[in-house]
Amino acid sequence: MDKIIIFDTTLRDGEQAPGASLNKDEKVEIARALDRLGVDVIEAGFPVSSAGDFEAVKSVAQAVKGASICALARAIKKDIDAACEALKKAKHPRIHIFLATSKIHMQYKLKKAESEILRLAVESVKYGSKFVEDIEFSPEDASRTEPEFLFRVIEAVIEAGAKTVNIPDTVGYSEPEEYGNLIAAIKNNVSNIDKAIISVHCHNDLGLAVANSLSAVKNGARQIECTINGIGERAGNASLEEVVMGIRTRPDIFKDIVSNIDTREICKISRLVSKLTGFVVAPNKAIVGGNAFRHEAGIHQDGVLKKRLTYEIIKPEDVGFYETGLVLGKHSGRHAFKQRLESLGLKLTGKQLEKAFKYFKGLADKKKHIFDEDLLAIVEDEVMVTAQIWQLDDLVISSGIKIKPKAQVCLKRRDKIFKAESSGDGPVDACYKAIDKITGIKGKLLDYSIQSITAGKDAQGEVSIKIKVKDRVVSARAASTDIIEASAKAYINAINKISLKTRHNEPKVYF
Ligand code: KIV
Ligand code: ZN
Repeated sequence: MDKIIIFDTTLRDGEQAPGASLNKDEKVEIARALDRLGVDVIEAGFPVSSAGDFEAVKSVAQAVKGASICALARAIKKDIDAACEALKKAKHPRIHIFLATSKIHMQYKLKKAESEILRLAVESVKYGSKFVEDIEFSPEDASRTEPEFLFRVIEAVIEAGAKTVNIPDTVGYSEPEEYGNLIAAIKNNVSNIDKAIISVHCHNDLGLAVANSLSAVKNGARQIECTINGIGERAGNASLEEVVMGIRTRPDIFKDIVSNIDTREICKISRLVSKLTGFVVAPNKAIVGGNAFRHEAGIHQDGVLKKRLTYEIIKPEDVGFYETGLVLGKHSGRHAFKQRLESLGLKLTGKQLEKAFKYFKGLADKKKHIFDEDLLAIVEDEVMVTAQIWQLDDLVISSGIKIKPKAQVCLKRRDKIFKAESSGDGPVDACYKAIDKITGIKGKLLDYSIQSITAGKDAQGEVSIKIKVKDRVVSARAASTDIIEASAKAYINAINKISLKTRHNEPKVYF
């Protein structure tokens, strides 16, 4: 078989998406999930860009021993030194050095001539190779680089020791045939190309990142750089789930090409990344969207019932997507509850299970039918939340069209109850102001959205928010049948994240 290397950059390029900042613990949690998913390389960050990124790369390198851990660096000694230092504990370290090679970048951004760029590229790869064997080099904006110069740079960095050469379509400008031809041209014009893996890194500005990546694979690329849910700078990167399933679903086209990915983990990690970044996945998103496997039209439903293959090209369970079914209710016991969670791929410790069961019983009192999505929300929003410094104890709201909304909030901290009251523009605003009074932390609400988890008037509403406190931005979410309660809990989850002293949000130096 012919292996395709899956290089995940959710924690680096993905985290560059505006507003997607992740703290160190969240990065480690995602890195562990990526390792379980079976990615070959995890790009954990850009250590020189901030102290928070440095610490996060260091922690990921310590925590994950399966996948290679990669750190980004410009073609500058201090960047490479920082990357080496952060990767010290990695079992399989990789340094990813990049330097722009297109005329527009060289002339306006770097103000350097071709000869200077070539020299810096070679020197940086040689310098990095002294510390780490596994060096990847990216000629940034490769797809807009003069081909002859691109070939020369690639040949020189391979000669200098680069084991992987990455061809970024940095601004998402390429078109699939053109990009595939570029990969084929590299294979035909770079004399030592057999000594390195050709990698691709496509951005989605024209919605072509996945198509371009697949076209590159057809032309000889054997590493794809991608992110979970396709998050990333501007319109994002090629989505991991789409490239992996694209190759797997069409063995007739991608003959004998296989990845290491355990596709059954895909939906789980998609939800985790969505939860931690606060980026809601669109219902129509390929592979992981809520509607990706739902058939609405009668003709389609009829076809699927007669023969699944009529309208389904992927088995939902192959990507860990479980059809909503009526699963549990008020009278379901612990055993059925545990079994259902396990069939959803959720293995909890005894303590977590107890906590989840308590929430489940509380929810079953308010809501007759408990669906899989409700169970997932209980586990993800209530059980797996970061340290609960503050907890919602009680909430009384008075609101109406002709009265000023008011909220009385009781929060619990280490068994002590704190109370506050406030009015506001609406019940959520009043509630948030009362919480601010108690915690003394004033969060600026940057984003607020609400989605119903399942169908039905008694469905739980899941609130996703993003707040800013001083220069720090965090995302959080929570669900409840009462949307004001869900709003309050999401806000408290965000405040709890802020209260944990993490330093991930200092301004970063991008390139
Ligand atoms: O898009 C890009 O060019 C990058 C490089 C750092 C590889 O992200
Ligand atoms: Zn990129």
